[in-house]
Amino acid sequence: MEKILVIGACGQIGGELTLALRQKYGAGNVIASDIKEEAEILKGTGPFLKLDIMNAEATRDLVKKENIKEIYLLAALLSATGEKNPKLAWELNLGSLRQILHLCVDEKIKLFWPSSIAVFGKTTPRENTPQKTIIEPSTMYGITKYTGELLCDYYNKKFGLDVRSVRYPGLISWKSEPGGGTTDYAVEIFYEAIKKGEYICFLSENTYLPMMYMDDAIRATLEIMQVSRKKIKTSMGYNLSAISFSPKEIGDEIKKYIPDFKISYAPDHRQAIADSWPASIDDSVARADWDWKPEFDLPKMTQVMLENLKEKLK
Ligand code: NAD
Ligand code: SER
Repeated sequence: MEKILVIGACGQIGGELTLALRQKYGAGNVIASDIKEEAEILKGTGPFLKLDIMNAEATRDLVKKENIKEIYLLAALLSATGEKNPKLAWELNLGSLRQILHLCVDEKIKLFWPSSIAVFGKTTPRENTPQKTIIEPSTMYGITKYTGELLCDYYNKKFGLDVRSVRYPGLISWKSEPGGGTTDYAVEIFYEAIKKGEYICFLSENTYLPMMYMDDAIRATLEIMQVSRKKIKTSMGYNLSAISFSPKEIGDEIKKYIPDFKISYAPDHRQAIADSWPASIDDSVARADWDWKPEFDLPKMTQVMLENLKEKLK
């Protein structure tokens, strides 16, 4: 039986993606792995292995032993953590990708590797940023993502590797917490609103960024991996878009449910990262190539986040 391997399965995306893949392909056919201990969300749902992706030999052995034919490589340092440790961001984000690309060519494995809106920089048009435009990232995270996209494209053209990628916006979820990004405020704000009724935001009130509810991100990931390769016109990351809002706007939306909620602003080092990214994204190429379409807008996402987090935090 051919199997799927998720690397970095204990992170914000990995937990929910693993569960979605298990539902679709059967629990036993989806192996979750991470350098960390198994996350709570995964316990009892299927096979889990501790794996450091930087250990190329252990990874190759696992892939051969389990007859892995599809990999989702999610292990990475995100933007804020990456700026604190650029050397590790470079080594992990690209070291993992380079060795997985080789492995996928050797073992004829289909690969999903996520990119990010962080590929864009200050010289990129900020509104409705197109698929193809000026790309000059200023963070180490963005540099690793753009370099990674170029590597994916090279391996597709040179070796015929079936590698697929999207540029996720900031992802918002209630099941798993985010892991060191600049868009994390848009998750923290819900926790603090419910627990304390107030939130001090690390970005300024009018900082618009592209965001997406996790269900849309998981569906996009399953969809891009499922469509016929003929529809995938690039192995670089596809722009994906859903919602664009500022801290003030999401705060106002939360106030509709928690009228006394107070938000204040104390921008920190993450403001400069946010200021270098687009405010909104044009994803018409993904829509045209593989029929991508988001389902969650700001009001729907806010309602679902508050309903579920209120239950979770009881
Ligand atoms: P995360 O930080 O929540 O999870 C990453 C996981 O990788 C963690 O569980 C971590 O333990 C694991 N990991 C780290 N080093 C490892 C190693 N050496 N071996 C094995 N596992 C290791 O990140 P996430 O938010 O789930 O993001 C997953 C991917 O999606 C990343 O490539 C990220 O850049 C990309 N992405 C995420 C977002 C977002 O908003 N969450 C947006 C754009 C792109
Ligand atoms: N959400 C991610 C971050 O803020 C974007 O890739 O780092």
